[in-house]
Amino acid sequence: MRITVCLTDNNRPEPWVEGLRAELPQAVVEAWTPGAAPADHAVVWAPPQQFLDEQHQLRGLFNIGAGVDALLGLRLPPRTRIVRLDDAGMSVQMAEYVCHALIRHFREFDVYEAEAREGAWSYRRPRVRGNFPVGIMGLGVLGQRVGRAIAQFEFPVRGWSRSPRQIDGIRCFHGEPGLAEFLAASRVLVCLLPLTDATRGILRRETLSRLNGGLPGGYLINVARGAHLVEDDLIPLLDSGQLAGATLDVFASEPLAPGHPFWRHPKITVTPHASARTQREESVAQIAAKIRALEAGADFETLPGVVDAQRGY
Ligand code: NAP
Ligand code: GLV
Repeated sequence: MRITVCLTDNNRPEPWVEGLRAELPQAVVEAWTPGAAPADHAVVWAPPQQFLDEQHQLRGLFNIGAGVDALLGLRLPPRTRIVRLDDAGMSVQMAEYVCHALIRHFREFDVYEAEAREGAWSYRRPRVRGNFPVGIMGLGVLGQRVGRAIAQFEFPVRGWSRSPRQIDGIRCFHGEPGLAEFLAASRVLVCLLPLTDATRGILRRETLSRLNGGLPGGYLINVARGAHLVEDDLIPLLDSGQLAGATLDVFASEPLAPGHPFWRHPKITVTPHASARTQREESVAQIAAKIRALEAGADFETLPGVVDAQRGY
């Protein structure tokens, strides 16, 4: 069995090659170079089209992230299946990040920080948790973990997915018909959707204005993909007061350009696509276990994280 590793965006292939060799000693594992021998499986992040054109025998294309939008835009060999990371240490990081952003906003810690720098000892009036229902778009591996973590802090939690879901502690909505009611019932909106044709641009003036029953004071946390947000719609909503603020980890173009207005807007917090980073050791172990199962005769459909190309996630 031959495994090739092709990573872009400053991801070094060598530690992945070493990790996979240790997990799968019977396999030939190499970093891809143009013209390399065809492999059975590949471990990738945003590979070039040339890679897929050359690697026409691939069975499994193992993505070292959860989101596969960068792969679905490429022409794949006919029998290749995409397998994404299934948690592999990401959901706990995502829960930390979203709870931090939510609580920082709810408890007004940014105001306390600014006042402390001025030497001011002044209390903020306590806010009522029940007035801050949190809506999570996407109730998959990450969305459910985030929902459970938020519920621990006793915020009302709502969730929205493509198909109907029943999850303890989360009031669930689904599909296009459920979207307006879900948005109206949420004040803080967390985006954890995959980027697909159906979800691109879903965070726009029309949808964001529905938060909090249409009243001012909504808050956006986008930790999914930058292209979920229509960037030009955000600043007018913040400047008019319709939205109280936004925490953004992902952007239409990354790295965020130095002059982008999001950097300096007082109601926007920017982080550099850092909310849930790939954990290499856990990911190598997960990918190797799936390759072992396939080589032992398992069907792709039995593997967690197999992507349905029609659905787009
Ligand atoms: P997942 O397990 O596949 O969950 C996706 C969820 O989105 C599912 O609940 C799905 O509905 C829902 N969904 C998909 N299309 C929808 C639509 N058209 N309308 C309503 N709901 C829809 O994915 P995951 O592992 O939780 O990851 C989610 C995304 O997070 C990734 O795709 C990636 O873009 C992003 N991410 C970002 C970072 C970061 O560092 N910022 C890190 C990791 C992942 P069903 O339940 O009905 O299938
Ligand atoms: C990161 O954004 C991922 O999709 O894993």
